[in-house]
Order: sequence, then structure tokens, then C-alpha cells
Amino acid sequence: MGGPIDMERLIDEQQLQQRIEELAKEISQDYRGKTVHLLCLLKGSAIFLADLAKKMDFDIETEFHFLEVSSYGATTKSSGKLTFHSRLRDPLTDKDVLIVEDIIDTGHTLSLVLEYIKKEKPRSLEIVTLLDKPSRRVVHDIQPKYIGFSIPDKFVIGYGLDFNQRYRNLPFIGILDADDIS
Ligand code: IMP
Ligand code: MG
Repeated sequence: MGGPIDMERLIDEQQLQQRIEELAKEISQDYRGKTVHLLCLLKGSAIFLADLAKKMDFDIETEFHFLEVSSYGATTKSSGKLTFHSRLRDPLTDKDVLIVEDIIDTGHTLSLVLEYIKKEKPRSLEIVTLLDKPSRRVVHDIQPKYIGFSIPDKFVIGYGLDFNQRYRNLPFIGILDADDIS
């Protein structure tokens, strides 16, 4: 198995940070005067949340929320079933909620998360995803308001994203060899 050093890089650290800064500016404009409740889907979105939140304008009030769900086992194919590893700690009723997601693949995960969050009756509900794999979409009624990068149908790791819990710490988005997955 090739290590991270010779791994093919899809998005390097500088490109990531530059795009996240643009997203943060856009979000800051859209939520000016409001408190934005950033709902981070663990574990993959933890690093994205941290960088995104730090790049937002200082006058934007934020609150953090965390939810750990999974729809992936040890394989790279979505099972289409969601397991909740945690529940919301604070209510989101009447809040302006922005779901912070690492990647939208089939859309199964987000569609189930949306169903769950809508029951809270937030005032507004939007999605920011760092990565989008539109060619893999199965659930089509998901419209993220903010998308960092649209990427091809490759299994990617790094910047929060894992393969069997590895590689989350890499500061870039790399492509995992098909040989390494199977
Ligand atoms: P979906 O339910 O198929 O949209 O899958 C969403 C979740 O699957 C993401 O939040 C990731 O945790 C995981 N996932 C999807 N594609 C990748 C990938 O290329 N690399 C790592 N994790 C992925
Ligand atoms: Mg995720």
C-alpha cells in the first residue's frame, strides 16, 4: 500500500484553505446579524468546521453543535442506513442551522440527517459541504447551498476524511488507489 507521501493529491492544502476562505466570506455575508448554528457531522467534518469557523468574520455569532452518524462500514460503498452514535445536546428549534459536511456521495447520510434535524423545527436549515461527488448521487432532493469542490467519482481521504479511520489528519485531499481499497 502506498503511503501518504506518494499518494495522488486531488486538492492541495493551499487550494483547500483558499476555497474555505471564500466559503467563510459568503456564509458571513448571508448570516450577518444572525447567530449561525454550525452543526458538524463527526468525525469527517471536524477539521473543516474548525477552519471554516476561524475564517468567518469576527462579528458573526456562532454556536457549535456536533452529531456523530455513520452510513459507512469498513467498505467504501454506502450502506444507505444511518446509525446514530450521538444525539443533539441542545435544541435547534428556531435556530439558523448550517449543517457542515465533509462530503456528499450518494446523499443517503444527509437525507436522513435532514429528516432528523427538521423535526427540531429550525428557523432555517442549509448545508455547506466541502466536497460533492454529484455523479454518485442517489438521493436527488438535497441542495447544498455552499459547495467547496465538485469532485470526480474517486475515493478520497485526508482533511477529515478517512479510510478505515486512517488519514484524517492529512492537510490535503488525496486519492486512494483502487488497489488499496479492495
Ligand atoms: P453518502 O451517504 O453516500 O452521501 O455518504 C456520505 C458519507 O460517506 C460522508 O459523510 C463520508 O463520511 C463518507 N464518504 C463518502 N465518500 C467518501 C470518500 O470518497 N472518502 C471518504 N469518505 C467518504
Ligand atoms: Mg460525513
